[in-house]
Amino acid sequence: MDAETVETHYAKHHATYTANLNKAAEEAGVADQTIEDILANLDDVVDEAQRTALKNNGGGFYNHNLFFEEITPGGAKEPTGELKAAIDEAFGSFEELKKQMTALAIGQFGSGWAWLSKDAAGKLYVSKSANQDNPISLGTGQTPIFTIDVWEHAYYLKYKNLRASFVENLWNLVNWDVVAKNYKG
Ligand SMILES: [Fe+2]
Repeated sequence: MDAETVETHYAKHHATYTANLNKAAEEAGVADQTIEDILANLDDVVDEAQRTALKNNGGGFYNHNLFFEEITPGGAKEPTGELKAAIDEAFGSFEELKKQMTALAIGQFGSGWAWLSKDAAGKLYVSKSANQDNPISLGTGQTPIFTIDVWEHAYYLKYKNLRASFVENLWNLVNWDVVAKNYKG
């Protein structure tokens, strides 16, 4: 991943979502809640404009936190320990997980995300979502542990229209110690 993409994505896009989330949370009176609680309880926000602002900017904040943390340089280059066992149980192998999640990421029509998530029992699932939606705001009962951002802003400066090349390369950047930490969470 090139420096210009990361700089624009993190210091501009992510910063804007964060600022707009803070504003929306103040307006909706939920600024004292965790981001997970805000996203899980959007239905409690009666005002539609406030609810939409929280869903989009709260999702943008949460999703990008996960994304940028998981590509922290260093760490294990592939899943190990309990996480590896859970991946093997759910998908058969790490290669199969990569195949399924890559297909979801490439197949997401328009802007969105692909997800690896766990349920309360530690079982793993893959999914995709549009816009800044995520498994928490969608009410799936799952907690994301790894994600792929397939908004054009995540790859267009370097990869132009070649989303598949970006997704294939992203697997090389993942710090699996961070994902293991998210799994234990
Ligand atoms: Fe993004």
